[in-house]
Amino acid sequence: MRALIAGNWKMHGTSQALDEVRKLAAKAQDLACELLLCPPATLLERAVAASGGRLAIGGQDCHWERAGAFTGDISAAMLVDAGARAVILGHSERRQFHGESSTQVQNKARAGQEAGLMTIVCVGESEAERQAGQEKAVVGEQLAASLPPLSDPQNCAVAYEPVWAIGSGRTPTLEEIAAMHGFIREGLCRLLGPAGEAMRILYGGSVKPANAVEILATAEVGGALVGGASLKADDFLAIARAVTGKINQDAPTVR
Ligand code: PGA
Repeated sequence: MRALIAGNWKMHGTSQALDEVRKLAAKAQDLACELLLCPPATLLERAVAASGGRLAIGGQDCHWERAGAFTGDISAAMLVDAGARAVILGHSERRQFHGESSTQVQNKARAGQEAGLMTIVCVGESEAERQAGQEKAVVGEQLAASLPPLSDPQNCAVAYEPVWAIGSGRTPTLEEIAAMHGFIREGLCRLLGPAGEAMRILYGGSVKPANAVEILATAEVGGALVGGASLKADDFLAIARAVTGKINQDAPTVR
């Protein structure tokens, strides 16, 4: 399995940012990892066109229903129609600012998987929860409640993103990352059986070119979810180049 390096542009990027997509697409085929870029929904179709099919493009959220009276929302089928191949779900900013529960995240992930999207399901503890020694309890609970039972390595990856590390420049120690990823791996195997063994577990939160090599070499780290450092193609590519080999044998590709 190849590592997955996913970029999350959040609410950044207008037409001008398509230059970065073109730069990424020009290099994406030379990488040892799979590269995925999730721009804002307004740029999806143009990013797909700009990528010329050489770079997978994804959404940042979707609704759990196929269609309906949900003003402002986007369905998984709409993402597929716009050319997306993946979708990020349950990002802590959605959980925090839009009050998304793990049950909603699970329903969204199911809808994404049914539509044929690779779903990236995010989990992670707050700083207060870590200080209280609750990080594993919180992440274990989010994982169990957010992952659809039919998740497998082809249609799902988990992103561990400690909330306090996002956009802060702070990261857990490599030991802390390894401990949490090992804990998530155990949880995946318990919840999903053999499908949980090969599922990629991405680390997210202040990943940048300067720390990517050591984070991506850490046990059970199957890739990264990158926010700020994905906005510039050069930085994002430097992170992607930190992946030098396969993390496992069977390579599911972002379809
Ligand atoms: P960051 O964001 O890389 O800017 O810390 C990561 C994320 O929120 O996915």
